[in-house]
Amino acid sequence: MFEPLENADTTVAALHFLVYWIVGYRMGQLALLTADAAQRSARRIRIWIRVGFGLYLARLVSIGWLWTYGWDFAENRVLVSLPLITLPLVAVVVWSLPRLRRVIDGSDVDRLDPKLVVPVQATAAGGLLTVWVAFVSRPIPPHADELLTHGGPLAVLTALLWLRQSRRHLTRPSLLTKVAAFLVIVGLVTGGVFYGLSASRLPSHMSMMDHNLVDNGGGPPTSHAARTSVDALTGPRDLVPDKVFTLTAEPGKIPLSSGRSIDGWTFNGTSPGPEIRVREGDLVEIKLYNKIPDLGVTLHWHGLDVPNAEDGVAGLTQEAVPNGGSHTYRFRAEQVGSFWYHTHQASSEAVAKGLFGSLIVEPRTGPAVEDITVLSHVWNEGVSAFGAADTMQRKRIKPGTPVRIRLTNTGINPASDTTSTEFLLTGTPFRVTAIDGTPLHGPTELRDTTLELANGGRYDLSFTMPDGPVRLVDRNAPDAGLLLEPNEGRPVPTLPEDPPAFDPLSYGSPETPRFTRFDRRFKLILDDGLSFHDGVFGLLPMINGTQFPDTPTLMVRENEVIHTTLINRSHEVHPMHLHGHHALVLSRNGVPSTGSPWWTDTLDVRPGEIFEIAFVADNPGIWMDHCHNLEHARNGMVMHLAYEGVTSPYHVGHQSGNQPE
Ligand code: C2O
Ligand code: CU
Repeated sequence: MFEPLENADTTVAALHFLVYWIVGYRMGQLALLTADAAQRSARRIRIWIRVGFGLYLARLVSIGWLWTYGWDFAENRVLVSLPLITLPLVAVVVWSLPRLRRVIDGSDVDRLDPKLVVPVQATAAGGLLTVWVAFVSRPIPPHADELLTHGGPLAVLTALLWLRQSRRHLTRPSLLTKVAAFLVIVGLVTGGVFYGLSASRLPSHMSMMDHNLVDNGGGPPTSHAARTSVDALTGPRDLVPDKVFTLTAEPGKIPLSSGRSIDGWTFNGTSPGPEIRVREGDLVEIKLYNKIPDLGVTLHWHGLDVPNAEDGVAGLTQEAVPNGGSHTYRFRAEQVGSFWYHTHQASSEAVAKGLFGSLIVEPRTGPAVEDITVLSHVWNEGVSAFGAADTMQRKRIKPGTPVRIRLTNTGINPASDTTSTEFLLTGTPFRVTAIDGTPLHGPTELRDTTLELANGGRYDLSFTMPDGPVRLVDRNAPDAGLLLEPNEGRPVPTLPEDPPAFDPLSYGSPETPRFTRFDRRFKLILDDGLSFHDGVFGLLPMINGTQFPDTPTLMVRENEVIHTTLINRSHEVHPMHLHGHHALVLSRNGVPSTGSPWWTDTLDVRPGEIFEIAFVADNPGIWMDHCHNLEHARNGMVMHLAYEGVTSPYHVGHQSGNQPE
């Protein structure tokens, strides 16, 4: 509901501006008319001013309504937009309306009087600025400069209108003047766009240490003196690894089960790449070779909290591996659970084209289960599939067998603006036994429930194979999916019509609270507005009103407990992914988590939602914190979590060869 409401408020703002703009124009024309005509025109103007009042009231309602979602969703409108339209409207009531009434009455009044005309025109100007607030500037009050940058233009414009009105002669502007004015406006706008495009280009070389905005989260100041390079923060380098893997990135045709094939990129000739399956405590070594021309490649272990130097972010923790190059990763697999790996260089393109695979850490001991990994992917050509299966895959499983499905969303962007991919598991009751690789406490049985999974996120689904078929689908691609059958010839289970949604906030049973004190508190407003980023112009995602490299760098010290509030004021869902750490969800929209502790590494924040999360700063380094809608990341929805004293020698930028997103 939040998003339509935001749009409604913006629409009313635009209408309000339009009405007063027309009224302002008509007001200006009054002086050119005969007394009779002026009288008639003034009557119509009065009606339109009343319509404008109605729109103003409608805005009060929509802004008040937005406020019910939380002050953060309304503050820019209350503190910036409302004054911009309210102040000139007061002048309309006090100055313009009484004079307009005299025109209507036919009494003698100076129709050139600025007090008659300018308040209405200023209301239009203020209204236009509120459209700017809603679409473009998306200010985050309370900063004095927001008042200046928005109130300032209104004051200047009003003064100019006043000047113009008080020196106005009783002539209509010539066609030439009108054309000239039009050309000047068009010239200014195009000039502005071109300037914005080129000024927003990222430099050709830029250190990832160029943190334009350091945020200490209200905690003790952090020093810039660097003592450790990320390069020193490696996994065990001298011990003999327990498991060794080689992954070679190469171009290839990826055959889908429908017979169609994707022109993509593979690891060892397949995509998804080979599954990396290790045991808890294993020292894992993975050698990456790159044979893709003109593309750097890295490996990032999504959700596995490895040491910083092993995290595989081009330009932050390593150089991208060029064609012909190689890189060796080493880490101990300390968390048991479902993870995945993918390249972290130009990833919005490269992951979509196939540079990913699953990464499973099994417990040392445990009951045997039928373990099925599902990587739900949207291929770069728009095909939804489970791995390379874009048709229904059948699998025979004996009734009574314990089954675990490791459901992973590797798609680079959500199914729609406001929802991530929705899955349905039908034909059996089941439990969600883990989220993002972390087991849940006391999961209860679910049946016919929509599972909305963040891009990059994982759910482990467990059940005992019944004696009928079980079906798992992505709701947007129900013809594909997975069909588990105890025996042949049973009808495919139909999908439930409108199943309730799974909600981790209240699922499972709680444990004693983990965090009692917080050393730092960060507040991140996820937003979008018409803006420029690195040569792109459009409705772009923003964090705290801006894009990388102007986004805040969250500074922490080791062992601190960090509280973060994520507020989504934008029109799209943002699956926020913090590297190297798992965060505990404390609350959503002010409602505390009442279910199992919900640890996440990739959290969907939907429009209008506020999440409070907390984590322990227990993995020193400089970490990516970004939206896993990888197109958003490419458009600058990226920031860093940086530990005091850690530095990175790597560079990003167009000439650096590194392009972390
Ligand atoms: Cu799965 Cu920074 O990414
Ligand atoms: Cu996003």
